[in-house]
Amino acid sequence: MKKTFGILFLLLFFGQVTVGFGQENKGFYQFLNDDPTQKPFFSDKKGVFAKNGMVASAHPEASRVGTAILQAGGNAVDAAIAVQFALAVVHPAAGNIGGGGFLVYRAKDGQSHTLDFREKAPLAGSKDMYLDASGNVIAGLSMTGHLASGVPGSVDGMVRAHERFGSLPWAALLQPAIDLAQNGTVLTEKEALGLNRIKADIVRLNPQKTYLLHPDGKNWQKGDLWTQADLAETLKRIQRKGRKGFYGGKTAKMLLAEMKKGVGIISKKDLKQYQSVWREAIVGTYKNYKIITMPPASSGGVALLQLLRFVEPYPLKKWGWHADSTVQVMIEAERRAYADRAKFLGDADFVKVPVQELTDGAYLKSRWADFNWDRATDSKALNGGNLPGYESLETTHFSVIDRDGNAAAITTTLNGGYGSRVLVGGAGFLMNNEMDDFSVKPGVPNMFGLIGNAANAIAPGKRMLSSMTPTIVEKDGKLFLVVGTPGGSTIITSVFQTILNVLEHGMTIQQAVNALKFHHQWLPDMTTFENGAFTENTINKLKARGYNLNTQKNTIGRMDCIMVLPDGTLEGGSDPRGDDTSVGH
Ligand code: DON
Repeated sequence: MKKTFGILFLLLFFGQVTVGFGQENKGFYQFLNDDPTQKPFFSDKKGVFAKNGMVASAHPEASRVGTAILQAGGNAVDAAIAVQFALAVVHPAAGNIGGGGFLVYRAKDGQSHTLDFREKAPLAGSKDMYLDASGNVIAGLSMTGHLASGVPGSVDGMVRAHERFGSLPWAALLQPAIDLAQNGTVLTEKEALGLNRIKADIVRLNPQKTYLLHPDGKNWQKGDLWTQADLAETLKRIQRKGRKGFYGGKTAKMLLAEMKKGVGIISKKDLKQYQSVWREAIVGTYKNYKIITMPPASSGGVALLQLLRFVEPYPLKKWGWHADSTVQVMIEAERRAYADRAKFLGDADFVKVPVQELTDGAYLKSRWADFNWDRATDSKALNGGNLPGYESLETTHFSVIDRDGNAAAITTTLNGGYGSRVLVGGAGFLMNNEMDDFSVKPGVPNMFGLIGNAANAIAPGKRMLSSMTPTIVEKDGKLFLVVGTPGGSTIITSVFQTILNVLEHGMTIQQAVNALKFHHQWLPDMTTFENGAFTENTINKLKARGYNLNTQKNTIGRMDCIMVLPDGTLEGGSDPRGDDTSVGH
């Protein structure tokens, strides 16, 4: 054990001093391609190691809450529930009770389960609800304000997860979040900047005074103590009454009053009827690894399996990380997977989603038939594939592993940062703007530039299609990785790259998270990449083959992942691009 740590330390130490160098250091960075100018990482942040349990999340307080629950004897699901509620307090951009998400859970006995607590379109919703009389999209209506919200699923999801797999009392899992809301949290620089950035929307959409604005009218600063008294009371109602503390009683009354104020359409019946759903996980293989991931209403699982299967035959490891050939096959895989996403994916409770067919080897082979080393495939000429017999119908992530080896991956969101920016008056929580994840009009891109068709059209009670991809990977039948990230349409490709970074390029999980990322989503036909992700040489080679490439101002991904090392030690890998932190015990 000591020896393993010694070796790890040496590797990490040398890693630190050699980051950004090339060939001569390939001894330490086997995954580098042969270009000495290649810089692999966003930063050289180090992983966190522990023996008994690990929580990786977007906020240090939330990770501490989760680990405290594990230390108190809670299991991975207990910790995940406590983290979900804590993030609703300390990370209001995405943590939520007014949004929804997905849980992928692998129990220590190897059984996998997924819980879909995605929001639903209100019963009064309709296909053309964001279009004007001439059939044009009304700009912004699905993105901000009261009409942008789906019926929230997070509280129901946590209740269902607890009923089935929780071990500690429900009340104990809410208490840390209540304490954080009541006693206040110290704002990080990123959280302070985030709140300042949305000030104008908050003032416009919330005429009542809210604690999202500094009490003195100033800008928030790093280090300010931020308390949320109304949210603490709402969390107490959820603590006392479970589901009814949110979908009924005082909280529901406040939510409905808020809807009335802003001409929103979520009704009492919507709240009463909302139910999260246990669904069978999508399970597939990549070489000797088993991939356990989210089915529809997320597109993430199907797309991830397609991506992995497309690239499986190629020697990515031999070519090297971000070598032009490696990047080229990954881009072509992404182009095809996102074209299929737009054509086939939607809420499987409403439309037939051909999951088996889309991940079938022969189908994927046929999709690859027009791949050409000399020339980028033209996205305009490519559409979703043709499936025999198919009738055309048309975020924050956290990972937990407990001492017994139960593993939970949750990706949860309000959609855009701070959701609809409507704070429910008196109840103190932000509502989602998840309705924008529907295809509000066929072929019109949503806020992530994704287009969709009838499969993802709005219908009453239907779930909007997601890209969230909480995923668990097994190696030789044993728990190996827990991964996921926010990032809208880039979620799927970030999860894909992080998995390949470990499986093919031999990175540690922290290195895989740190690694610079790129993204292609069929349309627009453009590969965006983080500054430095590709060398000039790679860029030139790809451009010569007709690839459109563009550096991306924003970073890609904000991953929070855990890896199980061969001796059972857990490595938490939390993204240096945010406040993300792993805490183990
Ligand atoms: O479900 C989805 O795919 C989106 N609502 C996720 C939004 C997201 O990741 C925003 N964060 N960067």
